Amino acid sequence: MTGHVIVTDADGIRIIRMNRPDKKNALTLAMYEAMAVALEGANASDAVHCVLIAGVPGAFSAGNDLADFRDSAQGSGGLGSALRFLSALVRNGKPLVAAVSGVAVGVGTTMLFHCDYVVAGTDTRLSTPFVGLGLVPEAASSLLAPLLMGQRRAFELLVMGRPLDATKAKEFGIANAVVAPQEVEAEALKAAREIAALPAGPVALSRGLMRGATEAMLARIDEEARMLGEQLRSPEAKAAFEAFFARRRAT
Ligand code: COA
Repeated sequence: MTGHVIVTDADGIRIIRMNRPDKKNALTLAMYEAMAVALEGANASDAVHCVLIAGVPGAFSAGNDLADFRDSAQGSGGLGSALRFLSALVRNGKPLVAAVSGVAVGVGTTMLFHCDYVVAGTDTRLSTPFVGLGLVPEAASSLLAPLLMGQRRAFELLVMGRPLDATKAKEFGIANAVVAPQEVEAEALKAAREIAALPAGPVALSRGLMRGATEAMLARIDEEARMLGEQLRSPEAKAAFEAFFARRRAT
């Protein structure tokens, strides 16, 4: 377990908090691993009726740590923990609520496609700059986004990389509710409590019926990961990572 992910249980609700504020909650492999373990544990526990995923003020998550992507592109380090997290997200049978405020980049946005109730702050900015980084979408978003919002909106988000503010996130069907940033967590917790108070069996059955085929999502994650692995070694991706870190060094 890492201090960058804090897991707490209370009243049937497991809160998984990404907590790396100095890096805008960019997800390291250790964080993915901790989040995977927390989700797998929730899934196996009768005491957990709902899972709430949260970030810190101003940052839900800046997405995959680009240093890990760069290392993986250079052949050192794999992305196995990220895949374990994505698999846990798909296999998870507990209702998932997200409290989103501030930036939500890459997997910070695509994990929301696996959530059942999403509260966004008015300061929310969702973006998936995969293609600009020389990469392809992940987390089965290439399957789920067109189903959720239609091909053209999904193209605008996932391929053109246009960011969405909270209003558009609601319009595109990603967010249920938009509230002031300081109210995001309370509103998400309210929804989580409401869900946790329902009969757990029928909630799980209904959610399973609505959620679609797990195998199709897992197969898509594998396909995306294979392409991502190839693209990580592409000149476009290498140039994009170097540009990001050069910009950091220059400022
Ligand atoms: N990987 C590694 N470090 C990251 C990161 C990421 N994905 N996102 C942010 N950081 C780090 C920055 O390098 C910076 O570190 P430093 O203070 O040591 O220099 C710190 O987090 C704060 O980021 P900063 O860019 O100063 O904050 P901002 O509010 O101006 O912008 C973002 C926030 C998220 C818009 C911007 O950091 C960004 O675009 N990050 C990259 C996102 C990305 O491409 N993710 C992968 C998607 S597949």
